[in-house]
Amino acid sequence: MVNKIRIGVLASGRGSNFQALIDGAENGEVACNIAVLITDNPNAQAIERAKKAGIPVEIVNFKSFQKREDADKRIAEILEQYSAELVVLAGYMRILRGARIFERFKNKIINIHPSLLPQFKGSTNSQKDAFEAGLKESGLTIHFVTEDLDGGAIIYQEKVDISECKSAEEVSAKILVREHAAMKKVVDNFAKGKID
Ligand code: GRF
Repeated sequence: MVNKIRIGVLASGRGSNFQALIDGAENGEVACNIAVLITDNPNAQAIERAKKAGIPVEIVNFKSFQKREDADKRIAEILEQYSAELVVLAGYMRILRGARIFERFKNKIINIHPSLLPQFKGSTNSQKDAFEAGLKESGLTIHFVTEDLDGGAIIYQEKVDISECKSAEEVSAKILVREHAAMKKVVDNFAKGKID
């Protein structure tokens, strides 16, 4: 029996990395059970993807919390409630804050970033940054999430040749394909105890 890791996914938008995990879980490529999707955006496309796959959705409305930390505390509670063992940030557009979530999920929160960190650390449009800088090479990074934004230890990094790309959109598309593969591989490696 393959040990399947229970994951909680946080996503704010399109959710294509989330979809890669759904597909990977379904076809056996990734040894995971997706316990819950948590989003801060009631209009996120990720919600539709979750519903289609029968994955519970929890929407955390940040405006309903007086203190920012309380919203993150709520996220930690949801993750505990669904017994998440690994937390995957897949296009989650907020910065995690508050001691509780980092204490409870120490070294169990990962993020995917579309650049070769520390390059374009903290940027929300690293693909455009790379294109505008005229780089021939960019890539992606999967790293542990800590209180230092995009600064946690690197788990996996992959270079992508963008020298032929004619626009920032082309750069994004080229990196995104590799993101999906990397996301699946890294989560599967967690399940198999190759990363801890
Ligand atoms: C990805 O490029 C990811 O690296 C970044 O945000 C984007 C999310 O895309 N953090 P999607 O929502 O997974 O389609």
